[in-house]
Amino acid sequence: MATQGSVLALGKCLACLEFMLFPVWRGIGAGSSIRWTQGWERYLKWELASREQGIRIPILDYPVWLILCRQGHTRLREVCQRGRGVIRLPTVKLSRLFDINEVPKVFREDSIISGYRHPQSSALDCILSSFHMNNETINIWTHFLPTWYFLWRFCALCTTMNFLNDSYAWPLLVYMLLICIYPFTSSCAHTFSTMSPESRHICYFFDYGALSLYSLGCAISYGYYVMPDCWLNTWLHQYFVLIAIGNTLFCTSMSCYSRFVELQFPKRSKALRTGAFVVPFIFDTVPLFYRILLCFWGGCSSSDALSNHCYHLFFAFLTGFLFTAHLPERLAPGRFDYIGHSHQLFHVSAVVGTHFQMEGIIADMLSRRAWLQTHGLMPSFFGTIGALVVSLALNLGLIGLFSVPLLPNALQASGQQQTSTCDSKEQ
Ligand SMILES: *[C@@H]1O[C@H](CO)[C@@H](O)[C@H](O)[C@H]1NC(C)=O
Ligand SMILES: [Zn+2]
Repeated sequence: MATQGSVLALGKCLACLEFMLFPVWRGIGAGSSIRWTQGWERYLKWELASREQGIRIPILDYPVWLILCRQGHTRLREVCQRGRGVIRLPTVKLSRLFDINEVPKVFREDSIISGYRHPQSSALDCILSSFHMNNETINIWTHFLPTWYFLWRFCALCTTMNFLNDSYAWPLLVYMLLICIYPFTSSCAHTFSTMSPESRHICYFFDYGALSLYSLGCAISYGYYVMPDCWLNTWLHQYFVLIAIGNTLFCTSMSCYSRFVELQFPKRSKALRTGAFVVPFIFDTVPLFYRILLCFWGGCSSSDALSNHCYHLFFAFLTGFLFTAHLPERLAPGRFDYIGHSHQLFHVSAVVGTHFQMEGIIADMLSRRAWLQTHGLMPSFFGTIGALVVSLALNLGLIGLFSVPLLPNALQASGQQQTSTCDSKEQ
């Protein structure tokens, strides 16, 4: 408030000074068009005139003195930002974006300084916000578009494979379902996470749940198609899916729990969450690692499938690295708020990795069919679709358990949010 006051005072002086020095500037603006002036007035009033009713500065002096005064550049940036909003979405409520200090602690992200949405947005605001630039927009789209890509691949496979009657295809069916679900859940979580602090937690609970189910999808398809020849029918092979179900429960509960300790112990929370996803990843990938090792020792013919698996592993490590390292925004806080921060790169790398994984799995499935059918276990209903259903139910139950303590507040917050939306409209 104080700095704003001084900026205003300074601005007023500069405005007068500037009028004396460059009267022409003002003349041009004032004469040009009334509608234009009103457009600009709308967003300036929104912040300045509503609070400091007494002081009124001729609107059109702003752009010029802004460049001169000390905090002018940030001010100008804000003005431009708001101006863009007014021009693009004239009939929709203009949701202002916030800086890190203006939002509650739960919403803050390290090294992301600006572009935060209102922490009590309505569901409609959340959806609209995905069409106008803020720090989450690209996070939303980098998982929403890939959802359609995977769905498209899934539909194409449906025409060439018999998912209904051919039990050999069921592991692939489960896997394809889950790689469509996880990006979709994630983009929804990013869209609706700013309705209230509680809804933010619940959104991310679902996101983590979908990711841990995805790890089950990997386990099921690896167990049936990717297992190295020499491991077929060992106890690991027989209990692979069962252990993977256990892993999803571990993963969901650890990652959800990590949100509760985030504010108090940020490092521990990050470690818990990373561990929660690394454990199922390592477990799922052990057979693949072993196959690749065997290959390096010279015991295999290099195949299409294996090169896809290697690309996948590369992107999987990149994904993990981006998740923990917070690069590049850590090097230049505030520079990557909208485009290029680690979470976006993390999304992209996860999706590219999943693409190669899918290609690898499909290639293995097609090329090893005859061999696997004579030597290995045939996929059973309970080992594939049944496992998915059981695990889905258990994980939803877990998410429910974690969400119950938050629900009363989540509902209360959506009640308050009605009034807060009205307030900001009145402003
Ligand atoms: C973006 O802003 C929201 C609040 O609107 C915040 O909760 C979130 O952590 C930010 N996301 C990133 C990736 O910085
Ligand atoms: Zn995400």
